[in-house]
Amino acid sequence: MTTTNFEQLEKELLEAIAAADDLVTLEDVRVIALGKKGRVSELMKGLGALEPEERKAFGQAVNGLKERVSAALSARKDTLHEAELSKRLASEQADITLPPRPGSLSEGRVHPVSQVMDEITEIFADMGFSIAEGPDIETDYHNFTALNIPEEHPARQEHDTFYFNEREDGSRLVLRTHTSPVQIRTMENTEPPLRIIAPGRVYRCDSDQTHTPMFHQVEGLVIDEVTHMGHLKWVLDAFCRAYFEVDEVKMRFRASHFPFTEPSMEVDVGYAKVGDEIRIGEGDDWLEILGCGMVHPNVLRNVGYDPAKVQGFAFGMGVDRLAMLKYGMPDLRPFFAADLRWLKHYGFGVLDVPTLARGVSS
Ligand code: PHE
Repeated sequence: MTTTNFEQLEKELLEAIAAADDLVTLEDVRVIALGKKGRVSELMKGLGALEPEERKAFGQAVNGLKERVSAALSARKDTLHEAELSKRLASEQADITLPPRPGSLSEGRVHPVSQVMDEITEIFADMGFSIAEGPDIETDYHNFTALNIPEEHPARQEHDTFYFNEREDGSRLVLRTHTSPVQIRTMENTEPPLRIIAPGRVYRCDSDQTHTPMFHQVEGLVIDEVTHMGHLKWVLDAFCRAYFEVDEVKMRFRASHFPFTEPSMEVDVGYAKVGDEIRIGEGDDWLEILGCGMVHPNVLRNVGYDPAKVQGFAFGMGVDRLAMLKYGMPDLRPFFAADLRWLKHYGFGVLDVPTLARGVSS
């Protein structure tokens, strides 16, 4: 084969490569050029007929050709890949700034309770709390006994408990009256230290403007070797400032009593009612939002912890109350009346996901 033929072949192949405008065509060109029976392999067949001294130069020429063709193929392949990707990206592009189309997505509303639960979770997650859960249908033991509320204790009456029918062994299940049994379940299954919140539904046989038979709480629990009341107050103060999105919140810690904490406190938040509006951080009206205290040694013993070694605090806050305060809803009952007009007025858009970075309620 003459030099001109080499040049001619190279030119043809390079042209074919440049002309291939998709990956399939390019692969065809590769097979024609470098495949087992391709043009370049054909050239090698001529090698045997050559004089030994000519073979070297011929071999080098073929190899050079092969390399240049390979390089051209892979460069073209990269270009086509990129073009294909850009085409796909362009065709699959979604304008995420577009508002949702009319229909279920824009019609639907997130219930204020769900929204507030998410806000609370976001704030505590940022403080390093993780989420724990427990069942709505509880054993008497987890809801009461393990929490240092024995059988004959008056606190059992105060809870207006919904009881299930007695089982064969005489025990009765209950609809949990608070989220505190999740403290017990978590401690039973986890070695200290721990730092959890437990949001969920709770049930009490009670109904008026500020009480409904089902409502929501978020339980908090921190157990380690050093946590004390100062930490508890700081956490609650930091929470309230983040939740109400104000620099200062007026909080009142009142001595109280819970069988599962010692000492125990109830916390009120100060607010002012200006017309229909509720302003947090000013005024002389108080609304109770949570109960808290240092976990009682008996509770720690009941879950197999050693109260001489570990200690900590717990709190339980009323989610619905927190929602009423923040979003100025005067009556609790419509929360659960499934009235679409109420939900449209107070509900949140599906894309209003609370994040600390954007401000929890934006
Ligand atoms: N479980 C209490 C209630 O429902 C609240 C609470 C939780 C109090 C944790 C102290 C500690 O009223």
